[in-house]
Amino acid sequence: MRPKIYITRKLPDAVVTRLTEVCEVRMWEKEEEPVPRDVLEKEILDVDGLFCLLTETIDEHLLTLGTNLKIISNMAVGYNNIDIAAATEQKIMVTNTPGVLTETTADLTFALLMATARRMVEASDYLRAGSLKTWSPMQLTGQDIYGATLGIIGLGRIGEALAKRARGFDMNLYYHNRSRKPEVEKQLGIQYVEKEKLLRESDFVCVLTPYTKETENYIGAAELALMKPTAVLINTARGGIVNEEALYQALKGGQIWGAGLDVFEKEPVQTDHPLLSLPNVVALPHIGSASKNTRLKMALLAAENLIQGLQGNTPKNIVN
Ligand code: DGY
Repeated sequence: MRPKIYITRKLPDAVVTRLTEVCEVRMWEKEEEPVPRDVLEKEILDVDGLFCLLTETIDEHLLTLGTNLKIISNMAVGYNNIDIAAATEQKIMVTNTPGVLTETTADLTFALLMATARRMVEASDYLRAGSLKTWSPMQLTGQDIYGATLGIIGLGRIGEALAKRARGFDMNLYYHNRSRKPEVEKQLGIQYVEKEKLLRESDFVCVLTPYTKETENYIGAAELALMKPTAVLINTARGGIVNEEALYQALKGGQIWGAGLDVFEKEPVQTDHPLLSLPNVVALPHIGSASKNTRLKMALLAAENLIQGLQGNTPKNIVN
């Protein structure tokens, strides 16, 4: 009998075709709307595999309903949306999609850094609003990127790819990580520093660490207070790593200069979110990995992980 799977969002045809070769596929057909929780709770009852996105909360209750469930394939590198301990306890495999999104996410992170430092969104809005009267020496001036100090919090694959880009801008590179990486330090000319030094001395602080219990609110009021008044904070990891209320106060009060945020604690972020009212915030809707090629690669990798698990093999990207 072919294994049954449920896919929580409309996927490209090529991915559905691949999954259909092996599985009996049911899918939430809407692209711009997440599967409602009650639908997911029904669909999970008889499936062997689940293909899901970071928009679905896969908690213990849901896992208990999926009595046939053998594998959950998350189409993301981060898997904080899944209760890994509960899945492991119930002998359900969980997989993610590392590697294929590294360069694309590093591109976006560096682009966001540049857009924030040089006030690109604000400048474009200014122009379109018809506010521009003349060119002026102090108008829309931002922060220099070339030669500045970049502090990377979390030197994983994406952090390393970001450091490579920053080298091209002659940036001075710091990182802070759970463990030191002497080889990478040599290769990239990046220096390991304590968290406090990184925050005190960096012109740009990029958050790229995984979101776990340990990194929740990793950047709060105390950390923001250490940063330079000219500093820019960039977060393309997960919203919950930075305390949003503390960040709002720091940006409003001029304690730091600007922030580029691709992620928020609650997504989709609402338009009345206080951080969106600040001109010194560039806000994006979690598009770090959003290139056409990369999203297809992620979906295909997630499909292969699912198929491997359902065929009794250990998937390449198992995380538990
Ligand atoms: C991930 O993969 O975890 C990103 O946040 C979305 O691509």
